[in-house]
Amino acid sequence: MRIFSGIQPTGDKHLGNLIGGFRQYAATQEQGEGFFCIVDLHSITVDYDPEDLRRRTLDLAAMLFATGLDPDRSTVFCQSHVTAHAQASWLLSGVASYGQLGRMTQFKDKSSEREFVSAGLFTYPVLMAGDILLYQTDIVPIGDDQRQHLELARDIAERFNARFEETLVVPRGVFPEVGARIMDLQEPERKMSTTLGTPQGTVLILDPPDVVRRKFKTAVTDSGRDVVRTPDKPGVTNLVEIMAVATGEAPEAIESRYGSDGYAKFKEDVGEAVVSLFTPVQERYRELRADEGELRRLLALGAEKARAISAPTLASMYERMGFVRL
Ligand code: TYM
Repeated sequence: MRIFSGIQPTGDKHLGNLIGGFRQYAATQEQGEGFFCIVDLHSITVDYDPEDLRRRTLDLAAMLFATGLDPDRSTVFCQSHVTAHAQASWLLSGVASYGQLGRMTQFKDKSSEREFVSAGLFTYPVLMAGDILLYQTDIVPIGDDQRQHLELARDIAERFNARFEETLVVPRGVFPEVGARIMDLQEPERKMSTTLGTPQGTVLILDPPDVVRRKFKTAVTDSGRDVVRTPDKPGVTNLVEIMAVATGEAPEAIESRYGSDGYAKFKEDVGEAVVSLFTPVQERYRELRADEGELRRLLALGAEKARAISAPTLASMYERMGFVRL
């Protein structure tokens, strides 16, 4: 089975990324042949600093290995090192629907808060579709916020196959059973995000333990005293899900343990569980990040493998779309 997922290098990585992204990557790599891509080409669609992009690309490589990707087993690489991605994106833009791109909620959210909206922000999901389809991917481990983008990738694959010839595997999304959409701790109606969330409500994987504890202590809960997941308690629901992921317990077990004891002790315990989740990751991350030569070596190996695996699909796409091949 082929597994593919991507993650952007810019922006601090947070608890939502850990749950929807990193942890799922490490878990799914056991099931087959995994390709995990640092999507640096995606990061240029919003305002960014070139030096920051370069540094964070290596930071992210270290984080991918620190959270459990095994370089002997999985292919970890940078999107810009495999030119097939940019090429596939252009070819697929011929079968992607303009109307459907305009309906992407992430585009609407991100474009509404900006004065300058790049063309790339609009066409971004086509690049993402190419990322996935180039590897004949069966499953795509992602968080809930990428669901619509994955649907688009599936539509593009189906349209390509119908219009030309059966060429691309139609991928399936894999989402965490609990915690597919981790919410901001201060504004639990919106997802945790460094671009769209609040700084105090966004728990960064590299936050020092005391900062993590403080963010949970000041998390917004709801009125009442019951630790229970209900639609009118988005703050408490979010905290129960976070604790379930961090401790491996069932959410129901957490609800019955805390019952109607109020929120102070509960929030403290969730913070502590997250500190325990982060601590080993932070330690491994620091070790790995210190050896930049080794990170570059692993990325070069990953790029070589990714080029070899994606090349035949790209060639088929050109062929079937009617380009003269020499
Ligand atoms: P990105 O970089 O924003 O996020 C990386 C992963 O983290 C997940 N995630 C969350 N999960 C739960 N709760 C949250 N609050 C939360 N925030 C982020 C995301 O769902 C994602 O799985 N477009 C993608 C990158 C991409 C990609 C791909 C993904 C490019 N090409 C091909 C899969 C396949 C993105 O910007 O993810």
